[in-house]
Amino acid sequence: MAEISKATGNDGSGYMLYHSIGQYPGKVTDMAAALSAFATCWGTPNDEQWGYALGQRQRFIDLWSQLLKAPSASLTTTENVTSALAALIMALPREDLEGRVVLVAGDCFPSLHFLLTGLADRYGFTLRTVPLRDGASWVEDEDVVAAWGPEVGLALLTWVSSTSSHRCDLTALMAHGRKQGSVIGVDITQAAGLFDYDCMAVAADFSISTSLKWMCGSPGGGILQVMPDVIARCQPGLRGWFSQDDIFSWDINAFSYAPDIRRFDNGTPSVVACVASVPALEWHAAQDWTKQLEKNRALSDMIIAAADEAGFTLASPRDPAQRGGSVMVRLSDSDQAQALLERLRAAAVFADARGPILRCSPGFMTTEAGVRRLTSALAGDI
Ligand SMILES: Cc1ncc(COP(=O)(O)O)c(C=O)c1O
Repeated sequence: MAEISKATGNDGSGYMLYHSIGQYPGKVTDMAAALSAFATCWGTPNDEQWGYALGQRQRFIDLWSQLLKAPSASLTTTENVTSALAALIMALPREDLEGRVVLVAGDCFPSLHFLLTGLADRYGFTLRTVPLRDGASWVEDEDVVAAWGPEVGLALLTWVSSTSSHRCDLTALMAHGRKQGSVIGVDITQAAGLFDYDCMAVAADFSISTSLKWMCGSPGGGILQVMPDVIARCQPGLRGWFSQDDIFSWDINAFSYAPDIRRFDNGTPSVVACVASVPALEWHAAQDWTKQLEKNRALSDMIIAAADEAGFTLASPRDPAQRGGSVMVRLSDSDQAQALLERLRAAAVFADARGPILRCSPGFMTTEAGVRRLTSALAGDI
């Protein structure tokens, strides 16, 4: 990889895929060292593997908990965001869902909607999806509020949308949802690692994310954070020996749940993704977040100005207070988007598109020069 980057002169200045994978300076070396240390330990014929592997997993959990200011023992690992939501739904008391409504906005991550439609019959809930207004790129918070009454057993909020980077007003939505008595979850995937998220201040019942995107980690490193009072009410359906306080309690007639988030674990945990992601989490923990966000704002402004100049429609909120870290631009169709991406790639600018929507996320490695190459392409100059 390093060789490829050197050969193409790609220094990351045009990397704008922080809504997808996410890169930080030194990631290749850091990740290679972590995985190599893991291989050395795992492949050595002694008995030191589990202490090391589970220690790395705990480090991953601790770093994530610190980042989200999560109460102790309230955060665990999952394979991805979809499985985190599934685990939570499969754990809630029956009466939270049966005969009730699950509320979600139409611009949630599609995978989560696929999951919810699949679980509706099995768990006896009705899925209520708040639609986008005609021609809109995101769902308005006021439409979510209007659809949210006391019949809602569970609401899933997407803090930042992956298709428009619309950032919902979590404070207002949480305040409304609390009055309805719903269990409330927040998908923080597109914001974690760029915007400060304080579990205690937001006070959602659960939060879900991955270690990708702005977190810059590896695939397979999902997280599920659940507030202690909610954990106490949950009985995860997917359970196993690691769901217990003592994992070596092997009397098959004496299963009992751990008192904390560990009850959401099941069989032997997957640790490789934790090992691969710990360096990124450590890098994150050492950053000046105010500066990183300011940089994102300045580079995003350049992209918005260029899109305006070129006559394209912005598919993200113009107001930074309502926007995540990405800028989406509506092109005329997906062919135009693919052709533009081709030209961008040739100029070592990496973005992507969903249909006609170009997605650009300037982040930690992106520079003004890289954004200028993007803006030249938008103007048709390259
Ligand atoms: C808002 C949001 N949620 C979730 C995900 C990922 O879900 P999963 O980890 O299940 O693939 C993404 C990925 O782009 C996303 O943008």
